[in-house]
Amino acid sequence: EKGGYDYFMLKEIAEQPKAVADTLLGRIDASGALTLDEVRISAAELREVDKVVIVACGTAFHAGLIAKYAIEHWTRIPCEVELASEFRYRDPILDARSLVIAISQSGETMDTLMALRHAREQGSRVLAICNTNGSTIPRESDAVLYTHAGPEVAVASTKAFLTQLVACYLVALYLGQVRGTKWADEIRAVIRDLAEISGEVERVLETMEPVRALARGLADKNTVLFLGRHVGYPVALEGALKLKELAYMHAEGFAAGELKHGPIALIEDDLPVVVVVPSPRGRSVLHDKIVSNIQEIRARGARTIVIAEEGDEAVVPYADHLIRIPVTPTLLQPLVATVPLQVFACELATARGNEVDQPRNLAKSVTVE
Ligand code: M6R
Repeated sequence: EKGGYDYFMLKEIAEQPKAVADTLLGRIDASGALTLDEVRISAAELREVDKVVIVACGTAFHAGLIAKYAIEHWTRIPCEVELASEFRYRDPILDARSLVIAISQSGETMDTLMALRHAREQGSRVLAICNTNGSTIPRESDAVLYTHAGPEVAVASTKAFLTQLVACYLVALYLGQVRGTKWADEIRAVIRDLAEISGEVERVLETMEPVRALARGLADKNTVLFLGRHVGYPVALEGALKLKELAYMHAEGFAAGELKHGPIALIEDDLPVVVVVPSPRGRSVLHDKIVSNIQEIRARGARTIVIAEEGDEAVVPYADHLIRIPVTPTLLQPLVATVPLQVFACELATARGNEVDQPRNLAKSVTVE
């Protein structure tokens, strides 16, 4: 049932192009408009929404952090993202005009469930993004947008994460569509980009051998740091989480701009630092800033592992290891940039003799608070 792979995680990483494509399937009509009929919250109600609040845990929370960039950019509705376990206990400000999005692969995560119950008690509408048909979270929500990743068996979430991103992009575009903040042409253009992304994920998967070799060479390290900016920041957090849970290594993700406010003190000789570099096109200021961050940490001895777009030559002089990803629109980059980090963590876990599919102390769905 592992389809010839040694681990479910490897199988699930390989299934990502299909999972991404399946999550788009049937959600776009012939004219290129989104048809999310399953989102049974009326267009009139969606037009009234004045705040989006995303609640989730772990990897799903990282998908939510990325969704915030897309939702605010495409709809101009303010969006907050909060760990479900923190949300309810701080008496959040919610009302009937707040749209709460609960993201959960399993649909059974107790913290997320309690957060959505709390939101509904305040009169907010709750939309679930979920991978498990008929599970508790979608049942208790006003509406659900299913991710079509297929069953995810490995404890470490991979394909579910990519499909959560796709679902978040769809929700953001749909909100833009019903509210008229995004014109049909622009929505169509993003949808076209999304439709191509599955092939790009496939291309990334074909180039992962050097990433595996690199990971094996780092098996005796104790710490790996991850840096990113903009949507690359949650990707860095996700890379660090994967490494913690699979390789049992100390791993931390930082916003690259925060380096000088503290974390740069951690840099020492030969410390591996993974940097997710934004596209040099579009938000070029961010790109230039991160290139100087790479320079800074390298001057202090870090071993730089740079994930950068094909054709980005500015990073080359400062990259001890360079991992290329395809050119993608800025907001969609997490779909390709996360994949090498999954492979990296999986290979490090194997090299350290860890149980890949069932890491110690973890459960696939966390049904206690
Ligand atoms: O089933 P959920 O998406 O609600 O699960 C949330 C987290 O428990 C989950 O993403 C966890 O962080 C994974 N083990 C990460 O790989």
